[in-house]
Amino acid sequence: MHEPNSVEVHTHLTSDEIQRSLEEDVRKGLLGPVKSLPPTWFYDDEGSRLFEEITELDEYYPTRAERALLKNHAREIAQASQATTLVELGPGSCAKSRILLDAMRHNNALERYIAMDVSEEMIVTSAHELTAEYSGLKVTAVVGDFRRHLQYIPPVDRQLIAFLGGTIGNFTPLQREKFLFDLNCSMDASDYLLIGADLAKDPKLMVSAYDDASGVTARFNKNLLNVLNSRLSADFDPDLFDHVAIWTPRDSRIEMRLRSRVDQSIHFATINLTVAFVAGEELLTEISTKFNPHQLESELRESGFVLDKVFGAYEGEFLLALAHPHC
Ligand code: SAH
Ligand code: AVI
Repeated sequence: MHEPNSVEVHTHLTSDEIQRSLEEDVRKGLLGPVKSLPPTWFYDDEGSRLFEEITELDEYYPTRAERALLKNHAREIAQASQATTLVELGPGSCAKSRILLDAMRHNNALERYIAMDVSEEMIVTSAHELTAEYSGLKVTAVVGDFRRHLQYIPPVDRQLIAFLGGTIGNFTPLQREKFLFDLNCSMDASDYLLIGADLAKDPKLMVSAYDDASGVTARFNKNLLNVLNSRLSADFDPDLFDHVAIWTPRDSRIEMRLRSRVDQSIHFATINLTVAFVAGEELLTEISTKFNPHQLESELRESGFVLDKVFGAYEGEFLLALAHPHC
């Protein structure tokens, strides 16, 4: 039950589940010929803090570009959706949520905010801040993984589901297809989806957004090794890896990798596993797809969505797509 100005917290990821899931990803991702791990593991408390620092960097344009689009179009989005609940997937600090919440409140429709994120501390803290700022708002923080826990979003009418920041670009095409299909299946005819996606542009601008001069993104990338050290008692020395950010035009994406400086063996004590890296060998830690607007629009249609409006796509660096399920 919601008390006035209270926060409900639903936890679907216990520490044990996080541990098991990380173990599985390490076995799957580090034992094959090409090493990779899903970017979800960046976001422990320190990783979430570093991501917030990234959003303030001069080089990291996506946050500024998306915020400007939201400021210009949030009222139109609130009007078109007539949503009473904002559901957000991976909101982090909820910095941009407030623009949508304000527009829904202006529309006299705002009742509830539901956020799902793997980063428990960040999401619970943000949820408390929002209840203090928005009188009467019911806030639910769902600690969960949006790749497999969409069914745990509490069912409510007239939802606007926001998936912002370009996080859709962190999926491979196959993962994206599954995610959009699952999301579509979880929505009613009166619900809306708002997706923020980064667009392909001058490779120099994209690379510097992921390889900033002050080294914050390098620390964010290397923090993954600290997560592995603390959760699986691994013995990575982050100084023995270099941060790499490259543009791969074939897949239209920035790839972040960690390149081993030396031949080395890493032991994961918790799962009694040893993984060898030769000097120069890389671990793929994140893909960040930069879209062609037509491509994203057709992927949304193929997953059963009707596009209501696309903001920013043809004149800007970032796009916001508003869509609803085709029924
Ligand atoms: N939407 C915010 C934050 C983007 S950072 C913005 O635009 O600034 C990505 C966010 O997604 C982080 O808060 C991270 O904790 C969360 N996240 C990453 N993988 C996730 C997953 N599999 N399930 C749920 N949340 C995830
Ligand atoms: C969360 N995600 C959309 C960010 C991105 O741009 O792909 C994460 C990030 N990685 C490095 N910098 C920011």
